[in-house]
Amino acid sequence: MTQLVDNFQRVVRYVRISVTDRCDFRCVYCMSEDMTFLPREQVLTLEELALVARAFTELGVEKIRLTGGEPLVRRGIEDLVDDIGRLEGLRDFAMTTNGAGLGKHARRLRQGGLQRLNISIDSLDEARFRKLTRTGKLHKVIEGIHAAKEAGFERIKLNAVILKGRNDDEILPLVDFARHEGVDISFIEEMPLGDVSDHSRDETYCSSDDVQSVIESRYQLLPTTETTLGPSRYFRMPDSETRVGFISPHSHNFCSTCNRVRVTVEGRLLLCLGNEHSVDLREVLRRYPGDIEALKSRIIGAMGLKPEKHHFTTDGDVQVVRFMNMTGG
Ligand code: GTP
Ligand code: 5AD
Ligand code: SF4
Repeated sequence: MTQLVDNFQRVVRYVRISVTDRCDFRCVYCMSEDMTFLPREQVLTLEELALVARAFTELGVEKIRLTGGEPLVRRGIEDLVDDIGRLEGLRDFAMTTNGAGLGKHARRLRQGGLQRLNISIDSLDEARFRKLTRTGKLHKVIEGIHAAKEAGFERIKLNAVILKGRNDDEILPLVDFARHEGVDISFIEEMPLGDVSDHSRDETYCSSDDVQSVIESRYQLLPTTETTLGPSRYFRMPDSETRVGFISPHSHNFCSTCNRVRVTVEGRLLLCLGNEHSVDLREVLRRYPGDIEALKSRIIGAMGLKPEKHHFTTDGDVQVVRFMNMTGG
């Protein structure tokens, strides 16, 4: 089988596919308050998305994660999950969600073959949660987490972006919540994608090492070599099943082991989150409808564009104008 190898001998086995740019939340680090969303014809159809997923698995990709925006606001998402869940060669099928729609969708997604869920939760205080997400309701997300547990997902991970002065006093409560729920948790350093006006990113930057010190004031963190093929560095606590992960694009660069690419909701294959190198898959999909070989050769041809690393800084400069909701993180 042809494999996807870039110029730095990294093999791509993980694809993140964004299924919508829309979301029912407006998280302050992800979107501006007055986002405009793409017209429908610019967004890949469910059939196009399924073909993209199949093309990647035929090129050696073993892990697919559906992202957004919020994947659960895309109509027909269950059917897409069914289609992708049937693909041969897929070993890990996951979704990143804000959790609010899981009460409604969790069981059906699990039946369709989705294995893992990452659920974003940045605060355990209803009023503050609303400030950070602008429109979100914390209790819906907690209901969603419970529904996901009942539906029997193989692994559930919480994601928390920590911003100094906004939620850095909730690090321990979030760890305790994850322990109580019996799920994993990753702490994420904010990345400079899109010009968010809500806060100044150089002032809110909180490094993973700072987060780790806070956790270590209460819990022993034992390093592990466990990996989900994603960027998280995982630790275990001696008395719990919960794993604590750190995603540290600024302080512990993980680009040398990067194994992933992204497909935006418009069908742009992005070779790195941190810059704009991309090729247009939608053009092939619409010029040669259903032609998987044409799609595969466009994907193979794109690998040479994958850059060695991102150049994010913490000084508040925006190097990528695209907002996170276009990319799916
Ligand atoms: P797992 O499969 O559980 O390892 O998921 P993941 O951590 O890869 O995915 P998730 O959607 O939960 O993403 C968590 C955070 O990691 C998000 O903020 C992503 O933007 C970030 N992330 C994932 N991959 C990359 C990457 O290649 N580069 C950078 N800079 N950040 C990434
Ligand atoms: N920096 C870091 N993480 C972000 N996310 C969204 N925007 C940013 C950003 N600018 C996170 C969400 C979600 C994941 C997909 O990415 O909280 O957990
Ligand atoms: Fe929506 Fe996720 Fe962006 Fe929040 S981070 S606005 S939940 S896409």
